[in-house]
Amino acid sequence: MTLYDRIAAFYDPWSRSVVEDVGFYVDHALEAGGPVVELAVGTGRIAIPIAQAGISVIGVDSSPEMLAVARAGAEAAGVADRLDLRVGDLREPPVTERVPLAICPFRSLLHMETEAEKLQALRAARALLERDGRFVFDVFAPSREDIEDTHDRWLEREPGIFERAVWDEGSRTLSLSVRSGEDTVTFGLHWLSAPEWSRLLDVAGFEVEELFGWFDRRPYGGEEDMIFVCRGS
Ligand SMILES: C[S@@+](CC[C@H](N)C(=O)[O-])C[C@H]1O[C@@H](n2cnc3c(N)ncnc32)[C@H](O)[C@@H]1O
Repeated sequence: MTLYDRIAAFYDPWSRSVVEDVGFYVDHALEAGGPVVELAVGTGRIAIPIAQAGISVIGVDSSPEMLAVARAGAEAAGVADRLDLRVGDLREPPVTERVPLAICPFRSLLHMETEAEKLQALRAARALLERDGRFVFDVFAPSREDIEDTHDRWLEREPGIFERAVWDEGSRTLSLSVRSGEDTVTFGLHWLSAPEWSRLLDVAGFEVEELFGWFDRRPYGGEEDMIFVCRGS
């Protein structure tokens, strides 16, 4: 059982307020034309809107329970035929198709603990792409203000759903605990700086076309969020 299997039932209520990225990824899918591979597709928060826009998605995730929620959501939205969900690791995605766009939204690459694992994931994403295909993903590195405001404090993020961030700046790891009722799950997110991501992308065979600081496409200027738009080099 993966950690996300344990929060699948309350992942959607927990992430309800995260909507700012949806249109950004849907626009990229419309531009690429699909099919799109979403690595770490989760409950389909992004994949279902892409399918609703008429683009087919192959979604890979290591959590069968998250995929079960995605499947039910796709059926309810009437787009199950456009969503091909596959259990697997994003470092070795069970995808033989080559596609014009791969995406990895909502900081999922930060589940890769080491640089070697991040590089393996980036290389796997690169291998999915058709000639001139793109890989688009977002990650973050915390600001001092964020660390000071949230460190080791339980905060109610949504009614009845609490979150606690424990920041370790030495190892650059966020241990994020999520609690709903009796259930608490803690997972690690391992951040890098923008230049470090750019270097790994270069090694993995990508050219960074754009680096945004937010989903409104403002250029990155040292914000917490980094949104990379990359093309195979
Ligand atoms: C923050 S959620 C993001 C889900 C979805 N992309 C979204 O934007 O809402 C992170 C997802 O990564 C998945 N995940 C974590 N490690 C993974 C791995 N090594 N391979 C595939 N999926 C993984 C989890 O199961 C979870 O569904």
